[in-house]
Amino acid sequence: MRYKIAAGNWKMNTNHEQGLDLARAIVQGTEPQEGIKVILGTPFIHLKDVVEICKGNTQVGVAAQNCHQEEKGAFTGEISVGMLKSIGVDYVIVGHSERRQYFRESNELLAQKTKAVLAGGLKPIFCCGESLEIRNEGWHVRYVKNQLKRGLFDLSEEDFKKIIIAYEPIWAIGTGVTASPEQAQEIHKEIRTSIAEVYGTDVAQNTTILYGGSVKPANANELFSQPDVDGGLVGGASLKAETFLPIIEALSPKA
Ligand code: 13P
Repeated sequence: MRYKIAAGNWKMNTNHEQGLDLARAIVQGTEPQEGIKVILGTPFIHLKDVVEICKGNTQVGVAAQNCHQEEKGAFTGEISVGMLKSIGVDYVIVGHSERRQYFRESNELLAQKTKAVLAGGLKPIFCCGESLEIRNEGWHVRYVKNQLKRGLFDLSEEDFKKIIIAYEPIWAIGTGVTASPEQAQEIHKEIRTSIAEVYGTDVAQNTTILYGGSVKPANANELFSQPDVDGGLVGGASLKAETFLPIIEALSPKA
């Protein structure tokens, strides 16, 4: 089902106390509203407590930033989907460009992780997006479509319906440079079209597609008002309630 979503990706930021304070401030500041969701993508060590903080607030869900593709075993330092489920986590961010780049996660591995998340009963937030070099060379649409094809498009329709997509151009992440609303709309529309080609128009129209890359209070309204942009996956601006709450507010259609 298609929602308006503001998802925070805290990355490797906040100690335990800071993380819980931030989660409390966001939960307290979020008014329940039909069709709108807030997701907190926290470091692993905060997850269990943040799930507790969010209990009773149906608006706010909790995401892990990564998981392992296997159910269990000798994988020192890794976290399985079953472990995340056992503490009440709802979502897992899969294939963030930082994981693709710094941890060499390939499309094939991400297809496995996506399937593991779904098999474990959680929902993937699947990230895609091109580098500046690819954008400058003009084949970003083809590149992103290929990421989707190899990461997602052999899922059954039933499974695909549980996916949230986040388009995050690498050149806009943490740089202060945001894709223009037109640039975001162009590629979100292309993403929706390629979903329609595989799963049909209904599924495509019901897929939530988020934009990520330097989303902030000053640009959220304009980005989120694009017809195919269903909200944002937010890094830096999700680390403070003062900047994340206005981004959540920007999801509500203005009267
Ligand atoms: P920034 O909002 O800090 O650019 O990060 C975006 C991002 O990577 C979210 O996953």
